[in-house]
Amino acid sequence: MNLTGSHILSISQFDRESIDRIFDVADTMAPYAARKKATRVLEGAILGNMFFEPSTRTRVSFGCAFNLLGGSVRETTGFETSAIAKGESLYDTARVLSGYSDVICMRHPQAGSVEEFAQASRVPVINGGDGPNEHPTQALLDLYTIRRELDGKGRQIDGLRIAMIGDLKFGRTVHSLAKLLTLYKNVTLVLVAPKELAMPEPIVEMLRECGHKVTITEELSESIKSVDIVYSTRIQEERFTSKDEADLYRGRFRLNQAIYTQFCEPNTVIMHPLPRDSRMEANELDNDLNQNPNLAIFRQTDNGILVRMALFALVLDVANLVDQYSHDVRWFTGNR
Ligand code: NCD
Repeated sequence: MNLTGSHILSISQFDRESIDRIFDVADTMAPYAARKKATRVLEGAILGNMFFEPSTRTRVSFGCAFNLLGGSVRETTGFETSAIAKGESLYDTARVLSGYSDVICMRHPQAGSVEEFAQASRVPVINGGDGPNEHPTQALLDLYTIRRELDGKGRQIDGLRIAMIGDLKFGRTVHSLAKLLTLYKNVTLVLVAPKELAMPEPIVEMLRECGHKVTITEELSESIKSVDIVYSTRIQEERFTSKDEADLYRGRFRLNQAIYTQFCEPNTVIMHPLPRDSRMEANELDNDLNQNPNLAIFRQTDNGILVRMALFALVLDVANLVDQYSHDVRWFTGNR
């Protein structure tokens, strides 16, 4: 599957071969992300980064990934500062902005909105999260992280055992990751959520249809006992009708070092798409896990740069030219 010129809207568009290709290209981006080398391969290209919902790492990492390939970034954040606040349609916005950009990344609160925008766009569009629906690039960086974390432990994605915990109804990252896991064999998933926030039935069916073992539960400690990965998520309060409603579920499933030590197998990897909600009433991943070497959350965010660089390189068809346009870096590069 060739990604040149393609929109990236849903995990469903990928096959296993294209995932392998993305991950291989992501591996080659490591010296650039670590500032050991720089490249000008996308010099002159412009990314239109349009974020109509709060975002820190997705927005900034898309921008940095594009900059690291030598391209420039133009950004609009929030509805208030965009002409959408004046009643402009997604169609018109897409026609206009795709005239200014070579590729567009977009986050929007409505499911399906990024796809609608892409239909009107003259350049490839990458989904940075469309409401509670999907977050395909997060799933790719999550799976890339899982693969790397398991690598050192002699395990593979086939045969993976994973617990997904928290708001599985509105959490778009777990929707996309679960769909992505259907490309692999013999996966065991323990889905831990309040029953009102359970994983949508069509996704559970999809997992079962491909032969995966799925357990649905509201019990945390039993669920984290025999898994390779504990993937925690935040209650998506912005999707609830009121803060009070979200409060009913906040803090329901908390992982801290004591619980980890008591219940998890040694070296169980802890993941979270971030932001973790560190307010006292939520605190789904306690700060006392920060020294735990199996806490992979910041390796996930670092890997996000590699995967997003790979996606840009593949969509704009420069993956094989990155090194040809590389040069040494001249500045202090820190201790990455
Ligand atoms: C996630 C999102 O926006 O869906 N964040 C992210 O992009 N890493 C998860 C969340 O907001 O809880």
